[in-house]
Amino acid sequence: MNYKYFTPGSIWNDTDGTPINAHGGGLLFHDDTYYWYGEHKIEGTAGNVAMVGVHCYSSPDLYNWTDEGIALTVSDDEHSEIARGCILERPKVIFNAKTGKFVMWFHLERKGEGYSTARSGVAVADSPAGPFTFKHSLRPNAGHWPVNVTEDQKDPESIAAAQARDQEFIGEQTHLHQHYNLLGSHYEGGQMARDMNLFVDDDSKAYHVYASEHNATLHIAELTDDYTGHTGNYVRLFPTRFMEAPALFKRKGKYFLLASGCTGWAPNAARSALAADTLLGLWTELENPCHGTNPQNNLGPEKTFGAQSTYVLHIHGKEDAYIALFDIWCPENAIDGRYVWLPLTFDDETRYSIHWHDQWDLSLFDAG
Ligand code: DGJ
Repeated sequence: MNYKYFTPGSIWNDTDGTPINAHGGGLLFHDDTYYWYGEHKIEGTAGNVAMVGVHCYSSPDLYNWTDEGIALTVSDDEHSEIARGCILERPKVIFNAKTGKFVMWFHLERKGEGYSTARSGVAVADSPAGPFTFKHSLRPNAGHWPVNVTEDQKDPESIAAAQARDQEFIGEQTHLHQHYNLLGSHYEGGQMARDMNLFVDDDSKAYHVYASEHNATLHIAELTDDYTGHTGNYVRLFPTRFMEAPALFKRKGKYFLLASGCTGWAPNAARSALAADTLLGLWTELENPCHGTNPQNNLGPEKTFGAQSTYVLHIHGKEDAYIALFDIWCPENAIDGRYVWLPLTFDDETRYSIHWHDQWDLSLFDAG
């Protein structure tokens, strides 16, 4: 099969004829090739945890993908942080030109700890398809306040009060979140980090965006020069808006965010936002960017076509060509999750839209 189109929501086979298995994924363009990294899922509900690792595929054209194997393998050592059966979600890879290393970040929950670990894992490799070596896991920015911290958030009493109730937050949206200083309570040990993405700016500085503070608030944090840690320079955004599945991109000097709400594996309405000047600056939330209906499930913008965002790709060499990548999750049989790739259109310099297409190809970007 030689694909010439994207058909969102349909089974998408690799060049061997096997359905692509790379969920919650992200893309890297390196040496004229695209690499797609994602969670390898197995059949049944067991596939909701990591039994295999991070799968990698390569493509010259974005339609046809060759299986490059498992780039990061979970460990058989029960004591490893990435022991088989851990939760390893939303892997993303960026290339560091200074060190010559490929750096992978992912959301990590240690085996048997449910979603309470809320850490970020880091792995490195010498080649894009790996093998990646697990380096460490961390909670970002321990001992650092965000650039927009308030004096209230530094108050020891409110910090102690939030720490005393920490176990009561289980990742779901509650009314309790807004009453507790969830930033301050994680100042010392590092900020919680679940759904995440990476972004490399034109000046090669890299950033980590993650759902923090028990999923209530997003953070965008600058990474160190080698991309394996944080500098302590970060901003907290959209407090108690419960944004998950964040993806950052840049167009004409402005930064944009695509994200979702927080409803487990079930779909909800997408979110979008704009920062006109800097990534760690002022952000404004925009409208739900989605339009149209997915005829396969009759779901429209209020449920993001049944999907949840995972990445936005700026196509190499095409000035105004961006693709939004989403997952249709299938928690009862995780391996059967599907991919929805759709083009972005820009209504003006300050907002974008994502329209449903049953089938489309890259010539769409040449049309206007
Ligand atoms: C929503 C997140 O976006 C997914 O990556 C996953 O963590 C699910 N929640 C688990 O319920």
